[in-house]
Amino acid sequence: MSTSIAPSLIPQPIELNPINGTFELSADSTIAFADEAARQPAELLATQLRPATGFKLPVKPNTKGSIVFQTQKDPALGPEGYELRVTSHISIEAPSVAGLFYGSQTLRQLLPPEIYASKKISKGWTIQGVEIRDLPRFRWRGMHLDVARHFMPKKEVLHFIDTLASLKFNTFHWHLTDDQGWRIEIKKYPKLTTIGAWRKETLVGHNDDRPRRYDGLCHGGFYTQSDLREVVAYATERHIRIVPEIDMPGHMQAAIAAYPELGCTEHPLEVMKEWGICKNILNLEESTFQFCKDVLTEVMDLFPSEFIHIGGDEAEKEQWEASERIQDLRKKRGLNNMQAMQSEFIQRIADFLKSNNRRLIGWDEIAEGGLAEKATIMWWRGESLGNVGFEIAKKSVQNGHDLVIAVNSHLYFDAYQSMDPHEPLAIGEFIPLESTYSFEPEIEGLNHTEAAHILGVQGQLWTEYMPDIEKVEYMAFPRACALAELAWLPKKKKNFATFLRRMQMQEKRFAATGVNFRKSKSVMPHTTAP
Ligand code: ACM
Repeated sequence: MSTSIAPSLIPQPIELNPINGTFELSADSTIAFADEAARQPAELLATQLRPATGFKLPVKPNTKGSIVFQTQKDPALGPEGYELRVTSHISIEAPSVAGLFYGSQTLRQLLPPEIYASKKISKGWTIQGVEIRDLPRFRWRGMHLDVARHFMPKKEVLHFIDTLASLKFNTFHWHLTDDQGWRIEIKKYPKLTTIGAWRKETLVGHNDDRPRRYDGLCHGGFYTQSDLREVVAYATERHIRIVPEIDMPGHMQAAIAAYPELGCTEHPLEVMKEWGICKNILNLEESTFQFCKDVLTEVMDLFPSEFIHIGGDEAEKEQWEASERIQDLRKKRGLNNMQAMQSEFIQRIADFLKSNNRRLIGWDEIAEGGLAEKATIMWWRGESLGNVGFEIAKKSVQNGHDLVIAVNSHLYFDAYQSMDPHEPLAIGEFIPLESTYSFEPEIEGLNHTEAAHILGVQGQLWTEYMPDIEKVEYMAFPRACALAELAWLPKKKKNFATFLRRMQMQEKRFAATGVNFRKSKSVMPHTTAP
């Protein structure tokens, strides 16, 4: 048996055994794919290993090579599992291309952390013998990113996706529209981006600060359809599906600023400059419904994801209540209240998506007033018993709806990570790393069939207080590493002490690839709130 120290992997594989042997990646190394399906992950790994090593790493169809990829038929590995064996050479086997990819990402982590560098590093690239058999706990391992509150350039989004993929996330929930900015080019409605993608200035400091101050600087940006296709292709290569979110009927002020006929008030609006929940909301005229369908048609053309996220959160009903036109519409449709109006709106959008072979997913409020058939819920409001979000989540799975757990109690990474007063400004709350790690995405009292509707878990990055990708990364990591592990590893195998130890190596990987993670010892916890 080898006496080597256990490798520092994140997420930890479910089964790992040291074996004899040492592998050395060298200028003579080759990468082989034994069958055509294994070509793509083999080629991608070569492109990931070349920059730091400077080796050629030719990729050939072959059953022999320094690193051999091969599909096999072990059904017990499921759609994302893999086997990795390291001796004097390496084999990666899996029933699926995704599994082969995850095997390759584990292999990258087995190498010295400098392998993540984008420039050539001179050093030995050895791995101690090891055998790994691995598969994930959940099929939805998601990270969300809000690019509406602050626009993040395409190049930075690509790097973020690459980091997520290296941690075996498989879902990127892209929050593309909100009151403060519309970020997706829609050909039929050009003003969504010529007007809606730009705000005159932005609030400085916290939304609760008084008096309010603004920076006087125009902020904005958007992704062209060509950008979006590029990002989708990049993510797909890394086995990440992108779930686009077009938030409706609330969180639409940027769209209403561009097309005032979508709104409920007579006054012109501008793209919002502050944070917080906004009362401006879409009206429910047929022409507005048509607008939503037109936008979603272009969204579906860009994003192959089965799931399309339509938001549905925090839709304030005040303007609907006050609008005679909307009250008339409500009566005409025989609906009792505004909850029912929202519910009918979501149902119609769900039917439209279904007729296009897509599935609607929305924040847990979409269940208020009755949940659209087959809709999937993203549960965000707390996780305590008796909480409205919890009640919705539990009832939904009991009624056969799928559920993604994205709760703000443990998985909102816009919260403070420590109580140190020097932490950079955040929205509030306090979710330390340990709290995220210890989170159990379970709902008590479900039978097996009901529990199977829990698709998985997701972390949220709302960017009101994250003006750039550096701040996004600071808030995301290491908490997203804890999430990656709890999404992957069965409950009884989780271990926070070894996670912290393994994170020391992950920090070196982040440093090599230029991720601005929060260093574990950078700020000590204090007992007072920020
Ligand atoms: C949300 O945080 N409004 C989903």
